[in-house]
Amino acid sequence: MQIREPSHDERQLFDLACSAQRTSYHPHSRFRVGAALRTHDGQIHTGTNIDNASYPVSVCAEVSAVSAAVTQGAKRIETVAVVGEADSVSPCGQCRQLLSEFATSTTTVVYRWQGEMISVPLTVLLPHGFELR
Ligand code: THU
Repeated sequence: MQIREPSHDERQLFDLACSAQRTSYHPHSRFRVGAALRTHDGQIHTGTNIDNASYPVSVCAEVSAVSAAVTQGAKRIETVAVVGEADSVSPCGQCRQLLSEFATSTTTVVYRWQGEMISVPLTVLLPHGFELR
């Protein structure tokens, strides 16, 4: 599986990421990010970025969404959608590793790249991710 056009469900998830983006707390970066994910049992969770005056303390939108999902008992993520205020926004390296903890070989990430919405397997974004085994 490689990069492809998003399915109807993936587009709906992207719309939810856009909604989550509206509550972004971004006084320092001035960059709004939203994330939405669907778990393997069909739950939907969203998150937004939370800036901090001490920059490294800032929380990514994906981290917010994964925190919400795991708090509700989620174990496996099927799809994640991420949106930011630019034509090309994909999860940062740290978020790719975070997502890989809850991913399967078919987990996809939906985002806009050069203005076009695409669906990309997480394994393409993070080949050979770190695992403890
Ligand atoms: N950010 C995310 O929400 N997700 C990413 O994958 C990368 C960066 C946020 C963190 C910070 O609030 C802002 O974008 C600028 O780095």
